[in-house]
Amino acid sequence: MNIRPRRLRGNEILRKMVRETRVDKSSLIYPVFVKEGTGIKEEIPTMPGQYRYSIDTLLKGLEETLDAGVSKVMFFGIPDKKDEVGSQAYAKDGIVQRAVAKAKEAFGDDLYLITDVCMCEYTSHGHCGVLCGHEVENDKTLELLAKTALSHVQAGADMVAPSDMMDGRVLAIRNLLDENGYKEAPIMSYAVKYASAFYGPFRDAAGSAPSFGDRKSYQMDYHNRREGLKEALLDVEEGADIIMVKPALSYLDIIREVKNELHVPVAAYSVSGEYAMVKAGAKLGYIEEDKIICEMAAGAYRAGTDIYLTYFAKEIAKYIEEGRIG
Ligand code: PBG
Repeated sequence: MNIRPRRLRGNEILRKMVRETRVDKSSLIYPVFVKEGTGIKEEIPTMPGQYRYSIDTLLKGLEETLDAGVSKVMFFGIPDKKDEVGSQAYAKDGIVQRAVAKAKEAFGDDLYLITDVCMCEYTSHGHCGVLCGHEVENDKTLELLAKTALSHVQAGADMVAPSDMMDGRVLAIRNLLDENGYKEAPIMSYAVKYASAFYGPFRDAAGSAPSFGDRKSYQMDYHNRREGLKEALLDVEEGADIIMVKPALSYLDIIREVKNELHVPVAAYSVSGEYAMVKAGAKLGYIEEDKIICEMAAGAYRAGTDIYLTYFAKEIAKYIEEGRIG
């Protein structure tokens, strides 16, 4: 035998030298829930260890995030008023708009601020756009999504991330941002977003479950791979700067496919259900939380992701620091 793969596995220092996948703190994005009210830091029951913050307590949370070595966050808003057309999504004094302004005032460019652009947290029916009968009206929704994105950027957001899955929304957002002088504001598109039961805990957290039906007429069918590429290519043509695949854990093949076929940075979102499963399994003593977190993260990067959105961002940053991953 002259070829022995085990030769390069003999000890940790050697294994690290020949490692094919590196994980870096600079590529982590931490999702944060911001809620109307004051003095609120409430734990999300289905996502232990994650919180809904009001704007006043948010700054402390962001400070902890920065201290952990994570400098990118994604804001999700939880308004106190909902209506048919989700007007709080694009209100100048909406929850996200005010939170963005406050966070920017406090941290400036030390914090890179991305906002989720969608309607479902803001509509009374919980769908990701305006309704016509029982169906989401694509083209009418585009205008509102673009207005939402513009209001976020005007408040100080560094990047917007549309997650609604309407056709043509990247172009609509790009055009409105450009017309208003924000040509340099990047768009990270949730381009390949599947209709997934893994979003369950998020919908509890944000109170955004649809009041009837499901999201299958706009989010993708998880049996499909080619269609994922189609969505990604379309969004790049419309002007998306970064393409996201979501969820991550059950979609590693899609991450790889997008990475191979497209020439833009790829992001993967390890969603609420992935977080909740790890937390629940660890609580029961069935799995070892820290090791699972590292393995899931390395898997996403190995599949090809450049950027990783995860509720475990702070933990991963710590594990990187400790030399356990990366
Ligand atoms: C808004 C949105 C959702 C998530 C991100 N943006 C929920 C959904 O599409 O139902 C899910 C994130 C997660 O589960 O962690 N449309």
